Amino acid sequence: MLKGKKIILGVSGSIAAYKAATLVRLLVKQGATVKVVMTHDAHDFITPLTLATLSKNPVISNFKANAEGEWNNHVELGLWADMLLMAPATANTIAKMANGLCDNILLATYLSARCKTYIAPAMDLDMYAHPATQINLQKLNDFGNTVLPVAEGELASGLMGKGRMLEPDEIVTFLLNDTSISLKLKGKKVLVTAGPTYESIDPVRFIGNHSSGRMGFALAEVFARQGAIVTLISGPTDLHQQHANIKRIDVTSAEDMFNQTVKAFAKSDIAVMSAAVADYTPEKVSITKIKKSGDELHLKLKKTKDILAELGRKKLKKQVLVGFALETDNEVNNAIKKLHAKNLDFIVLNSLRTKGAGFGHTTNKVSIIDRNGTQTNFNLKSKSEVALDIVNKIMQIIDA
Ligand code: CTP
Repeated sequence: MLKGKKIILGVSGSIAAYKAATLVRLLVKQGATVKVVMTHDAHDFITPLTLATLSKNPVISNFKANAEGEWNNHVELGLWADMLLMAPATANTIAKMANGLCDNILLATYLSARCKTYIAPAMDLDMYAHPATQINLQKLNDFGNTVLPVAEGELASGLMGKGRMLEPDEIVTFLLNDTSISLKLKGKKVLVTAGPTYESIDPVRFIGNHSSGRMGFALAEVFARQGAIVTLISGPTDLHQQHANIKRIDVTSAEDMFNQTVKAFAKSDIAVMSAAVADYTPEKVSITKIKKSGDELHLKLKKTKDILAELGRKKLKKQVLVGFALETDNEVNNAIKKLHAKNLDFIVLNSLRTKGAGFGHTTNKVSIIDRNGTQTNFNLKSKSEVALDIVNKIMQIIDA
């Protein structure tokens, strides 16, 4: 899958830069054309001559190409590449990428590139765990980049923990898996719902919930990056989709979401319902602001339509339908009931018991339960990584 691909390897100043030599060799061995762009600090860890020799291309570190005033065109370079691999990516380079800084040619190339970017972080455990770094990595994920996991073990500082760059062969395996998946969803039409719904009480008040929409947006990005054409139907959220293949439809209430989703489902191959849809909505919406009076206020609520159950009724054999379940007790049994009642291919059970998982968090801990009763429990991970697990499961179903 890397054969014939034009890859820019971006090397920044980490001790892990010495592994860039092996990485270049492995990529070239896969049939890729590799150009190395490296920061000046990276020169302290590996010589440009080594990487130029292995890649058979000159290494670029400066905007100026020579004393005659010729320059290295980062825009051309960015457009040339089919893939940009930042390995190792230091905390400093990651922070700059997340904030759009371009004070060296590697960062200017990243900003100019239209291709997919993979980021292999490398740093000490405390730098990796720092909220600033975690927020920067999340931002880069949200921009549509793919952040690779880090390895755990002994670090250059002598400390033990998470932060080591993956080994070159692991990075290449990751790229191979990711790019082969991308072909499988090319042209598939995918429907994703995300976020909360707001049920109006009067012109200024509503009943809502704490859903941020992050899980659904992460799913939409993963699907789009893998070649799918995505319709993202979202309740109110501050999030922005990144990928050009995502068509977003904004809705507010459960009723709006029902109408748009049912319409879009007819043309979809895959649907994943991650929205936190209100189960009840005020029976009457007051046209004027309800004035304060008395010690109690009683609102009469009526049931909303269950969107997922409706899709389950309409589902054709060739369509894949996935739902979420958020449970606080009797989790697995309740999820299994929902799976069958709503005619799903599988259900993603959100755990509310784990710190950092679920509503309002950037991470999630889920279990996937399919129609055969197979249950897979995943660790706490970023919502982008959870999205990848879900998409992988869908791929298995399509392949079966
Ligand atoms: N769902 C939906 N329409 C609704 C309610 C829920 O499409 N009106 C979908 C959600 O997007 C989710 C799944 O149904 O994928 C399960 O949602 P959840 O709130 O866990 O379950 P409910 O069926 O609403 O049941 P309960 O709230 O009683 O647990």
